[in-house]
Amino acid sequence: MRDLPIGIFDSGLGGLTVAGEIMRALPHESVVYLGDTARCPYGPRSADEVRSFVLQIGAWLVHRRVKMIVIACNTASAAGLALAQQVFDVPVIGVIEPGARAAVRATANRRVGVIGTVGTVASGAYSTAVRALDAGVTVYSVATPRFVDIVEQGLRMGPGALEDWLSHTTDVFVRPSFYEMARDYLDPLKRNGVDTLVLGCTHFPLLAPAIQQAMGSRVRLISSAEETAREVAETLGMRGDLAATGSPRTELYATTGDLAEFSALGARVLRRPLPEVIGVGTSELAALESGVVGEGPT
Ligand code: DGL
Repeated sequence: MRDLPIGIFDSGLGGLTVAGEIMRALPHESVVYLGDTARCPYGPRSADEVRSFVLQIGAWLVHRRVKMIVIACNTASAAGLALAQQVFDVPVIGVIEPGARAAVRATANRRVGVIGTVGTVASGAYSTAVRALDAGVTVYSVATPRFVDIVEQGLRMGPGALEDWLSHTTDVFVRPSFYEMARDYLDPLKRNGVDTLVLGCTHFPLLAPAIQQAMGSRVRLISSAEETAREVAETLGMRGDLAATGSPRTELYATTGDLAEFSALGARVLRRPLPEVIGVGTSELAALESGVVGEGPT
């Protein structure tokens, strides 16, 4: 068991921010990462549809013999974490609870902002998770779906890190429109006096410098990646399933979209080349769902 890989997935590339943090924290662990790029974005889809994607990809990862599943997507965690935990035999970790925990720890005035996709915000998952930890913290949530488009667009434009692209470009279209959009989205949170802002979408850490600039330097930004990596380490440690020190790491990346594009854009997120990328069809994934449906408690 200890030498099996950790399975990680997202609707696309954003989850690589979480995968990168897990690999940084746990250098001996092997990973299998699936980016469901062909069906990205998940944000505007119904919770039922996202839940079925969670079951399909979870089943695909289990077939690849992973020792744990990390749902590195807030939208998918909000919709499908509980179901995945009921259905699969391996531990399943999402990104919302770790993000909520980090926010509760960080806030001094107990006013926390959350930005995420329409699906994540509509689910109320962050409010519920924060309230479970500290009922005295007030959560202000705003759906910022266009930030996902900006990340996707930024990754497709030119070489270099996304942060460089956002901070260097003086392009008439990109910068003014980003800050205008950021103001519209974030001003209500600023007016509510939040001192902590959860980047409740795994795409958003790639926009952190620009979001920080829009929120002001006194607001603490929280990305759930680090806290999720800590929870992965703790859970594997408690179960005695951490890879042995010195184990060589293997990495396998899979996408439902275009292989070359995933490889090129993924390298921009991880800031290094991806060793191996394979393709997985969405029909192959859909066929796996029937094998898991009905297994869990209803
Ligand atoms: N990575 C997804 C999340 O964390 C956002 C992108 C999408 O809408 O699929 O919610």
